[in-house]
Amino acid sequence: MKGMVFTELLDMVENKFGMNMVDQILEDAELPVSKGAYTAVGTYPHEEIVSLVMQLSKHSGIPPNELLKIYGEHLFSRFHELYPGFFEGATDAFAFLGEIDQYIHVEVRKLYPDAELPKFDCEQPDENTLLMHYESGRHMEDFAEGLIRGCLQHFNEDAEITRIPQGENKTTFRLTHA
Ligand code: HEM
Repeated sequence: MKGMVFTELLDMVENKFGMNMVDQILEDAELPVSKGAYTAVGTYPHEEIVSLVMQLSKHSGIPPNELLKIYGEHLFSRFHELYPGFFEGATDAFAFLGEIDQYIHVEVRKLYPDAELPKFDCEQPDENTLLMHYESGRHMEDFAEGLIRGCLQHFNEDAEITRIPQGENKTTFRLTHA
C-alpha cells in the first residue's frame, strides 16, 4: 500500500484526535516494515493499515469499519486537493465513479507503478442507478464506501448505497439516486 495512504491517515488522526493519539497508535500497532516512519512515495504492507485502524478503534471506541468509512470520505476531499487534474471535466458523481478503472486508477498507476489497485467494473442500468462491481483480495469495502460517500458529497449529490456480496473477493455497490 502506498505511503500516501498512511501519511494521509495519520494526518487525519492528528486533526481529529490529536497528536497523542498518533503517538499512541504508532506505538501499539504492529508495524514491522515501516517502524511507523512513512514517506508518501514508499510502499508498505497492507497489514500495517489494518493494524493502525484496529489500534485507533481500540483507543477511540469507534468500530474499525466506521473508521475506514470516515477515512475514505476524508481522503476523497484530499484527492481533490492533491490531484485537481483528475477532476477536470467531471460533472457528476456517477460519471466520475464510472471511470475509476478506465481513467482515475490508470493515472494513479502512472504516478505509482507499484500501486495495489482494485478492479471496478461499472454499469448504469438506468439514469438513477449505478452498479459498481468491486473486486479485490484486500477487502477494502468500507474504505471504498467512504470514498463513494466522499465523491457524492463532492458533487452535492445524495444516493443510497447498498452492498451486494458476490462471493470471494467480490462485492457490488448499488447506488440509487434519491
Ligand atoms: C481522484 C481520485 C482517486 C485517486 C487519486 C485514487 C488513488 C488511489 C491510491 C493511491 C490507492 C492506493 C494504492 C496502493 O496503496 O498501492 C487507491 C486504492 C483504492 N482506491 Fe482509489 N483513488 C481515487 C478514487 C477512488 C474512488 C472514487 C474509489 C471509490 C470506490 C476508489 C477506490 C479505491 C479502493 C477501494 C482502493 C484500495 C485498494 C483495494 O481495494 O484493493 N478510488 N486509490
